[in-house]
Amino acid sequence: MTMQIARRAQAIAPSPTLALTARAKALAAKGVDVVGFGAGEPDFDTPAHIKLAAVEALHRGHTKYTPTGGIPELKAAIASRLAIDQGLDYRPEELLVSCGAKHSLYNLFQALLDPGDEVVILAPYWVSYPDIVMLAGGVPVIVPTRPEDGYAPRPEALAKAIGPRTRALLLNSPSNPTGALLSREQLTGIAEVVRGHDCLIVSDDIYGALVYGGRTFLNIAQAAPDLKPRTVVINGCSKAYAMTGWRIGWAAGPAELIAAMQKVQDQSTSNPTSIAQHAAVAALIGPSEPIEQMVMEFDKRRRWLVEALNAIPGITCAEPGGAFYVFPDVRGLLRKRHRGQVLTGSADLAEALLVDHLVAAVPGAPFGAEGYLRLSFATSLAAIEKGVARIGEFARALEG
Ligand SMILES: Cc1ncc(COP(=O)(O)O)c(C=O)c1O
Repeated sequence: MTMQIARRAQAIAPSPTLALTARAKALAAKGVDVVGFGAGEPDFDTPAHIKLAAVEALHRGHTKYTPTGGIPELKAAIASRLAIDQGLDYRPEELLVSCGAKHSLYNLFQALLDPGDEVVILAPYWVSYPDIVMLAGGVPVIVPTRPEDGYAPRPEALAKAIGPRTRALLLNSPSNPTGALLSREQLTGIAEVVRGHDCLIVSDDIYGALVYGGRTFLNIAQAAPDLKPRTVVINGCSKAYAMTGWRIGWAAGPAELIAAMQKVQDQSTSNPTSIAQHAAVAALIGPSEPIEQMVMEFDKRRRWLVEALNAIPGITCAEPGGAFYVFPDVRGLLRKRHRGQVLTGSADLAEALLVDHLVAAVPGAPFGAEGYLRLSFATSLAAIEKGVARIGEFARALEG
């Protein structure tokens, strides 16, 4: 039999970050001393009180189906965090708990898009955005942004990209991969452009708890409250509480859209894992010290890494305001020769770094930013120091 794969599945690519992390892990399992800068997850363990809540949930018999959209206690905990942290009020019917923020985005675009509908995505973007949009039959429309603008879109470029078929603009601050945190002024500027158009704003706030240097995280519904009725806020437990494996994320938005998303979830996964939902309640209403400690440690690594990368000739690294990534500009290393081969792009560079210097970094191209590398600092300072020393040796040994 000839296996025929649907066009929808053919059109999308496997996640390059997951592929790179898997390669680095396979090398490490063989005893190779590889430094992994690919991780998209905190290297800290889930805090003890959260694990305990899961164990208690098991003992209390919370092992059955729950309401598709999440248990009432979890919806209440999410609503109270959104109110306390961001001053945003949501009713239970405006909330949907899913199997991770990625699943929330999947449900959202499945519920929102008809074939050919457009979603405006700012580049550099998280690798999964265009694929999740395409899986729903949508068309990603990419708007490039620049480091010198703090990765905020220029109003004229944004206005040009939004057209009659635009159903949503996707924002992600702090950003994966750049770590850029949009300021109130930048969000207000975006709001001014969007106000003239009939489209939704999706605010992926998954890194909102991880901000540094006294900065404040703010989303567009806070900066422009008149746009809250057409904003969908996406968030989850993965990054803020070191809970990537538990798969709890949520969407907060207009009840009509949330109801449509819930139908998609009803007919696909049903509820997120019952035990993980109870753990998520403990994460959201429990002590904040474990997160504060994690943020302090990330900040220490961030400052060290930015300074060390900027000391390498050919590399320029902007300071990220949030998340756990740096996105250095490595264009100064391109078109040079490594072992006689010209490095033509970030993929060549990442490959040479991995094969010859045992450093796993993700090329910028799949994030829509050729000439950059993404390095995650969700790894120990000792590993970061070792990895940066290797990148320095690599850069200094290039010819031409
Ligand atoms: C920008 C962004 N959004 C959403 C997610 C999804 O997180 P999860 O599905 O683990 O909640 C990630 C994970 O890497 C991310 O980087």
